Amino acid sequence: MKYMEKIEKRTSIREFRKKVLEQEKLDMIAESFPKLHRLLPDIDVVLAIRTGDTMLRMEGVTGYQGKSFMAPAYLVLLSEKADYYMENAGYIGEDLCLLLTEMGISHCWLTANDSDAAKAAAGIDSEKEAVVVIACGYGVKEKTKRRLDIRTPSNVHFKERKGHIAPKIAQDELVYQDKWGVAVDWVNQQMDPLLDKSFYAASLAPSFLNRQPYRYVLKGRQVILCAKKEDMTSVKDTLLDIGATMLNFDAIASQQDYIDWQMGAPEGAESIGMPEEYDAVAYYYWD
Ligand SMILES: Cc1cc2nc3c(=O)[nH]c(=O)nc-3n(C[C@H](O)[C@H](O)[C@H](O)COP(=O)(O)O)c2cc1C
Repeated sequence: MKYMEKIEKRTSIREFRKKVLEQEKLDMIAESFPKLHRLLPDIDVVLAIRTGDTMLRMEGVTGYQGKSFMAPAYLVLLSEKADYYMENAGYIGEDLCLLLTEMGISHCWLTANDSDAAKAAAGIDSEKEAVVVIACGYGVKEKTKRRLDIRTPSNVHFKERKGHIAPKIAQDELVYQDKWGVAVDWVNQQMDPLLDKSFYAASLAPSFLNRQPYRYVLKGRQVILCAKKEDMTSVKDTLLDIGATMLNFDAIASQQDYIDWQMGAPEGAESIGMPEEYDAVAYYYWD
């Protein structure tokens, strides 16, 4: 399956059948994990897969309001701490979710603010930090699928609703041209079609409470990614969100080999006039 197809197909599923994931599927996930894309390949990240009664111990520990959805399996990404390790984990986590999508395995990210508690619930003995937790299994049929209705973090409702509805902001709200708030003229601009598609892919990434706390600014032959500081989202979840949108962007853009992200703010980032609540967090140039 092509990346764009997986990116468009990926969706969070929050209700699982009791059917266990076959050992061969679990083995395939474990074998594929080292081949997933990494933002910062020097950071050591390992995968722990837990099944069986882990579902009972996860409840109350991970997920919005402690809801962990009693999934047949939990995938936990454990990372060493290093500069930008959260963004890196978010990046790998999204590639893992796209692999699950391709394998027909339903899944949902779970917020894990307390790494030690998440490791204890999953029976993991590791010095590394539990950065990403993903519940997975076979989802229930669409007609009874739960849809997330988000108001605030303490006011999240899981509604029964047909279809996948987690609307994303449109590409023209996500990407600005040169200055903050200035929409890209997608029609008249001599936009590289691959860049256009890459922004579209970036806009479809999962994010904590679907907040999409980031914007991209296109400045000449430079793309600057800016992250929003939000009261509703923890720093950890924002950084994971950043990693996830970067993976989607790269998965498409890297077909032309022009991705060499630098983490942090580029020189002169102030000139784009971003509001105070945003920071430039990554950028790249192409020839
Ligand atoms: C870092 C992160 C943490 C998340 N935590 C949770 C969670 O704890 N519980 C949950 O139901 N969904 C969680 N999600 C899934 C988002 O709510 C979901 O991606 C968003 O609502 C958009 O829906 P979609 O994934 O179907 O496109 C999380 C997603 C990310 C990226």
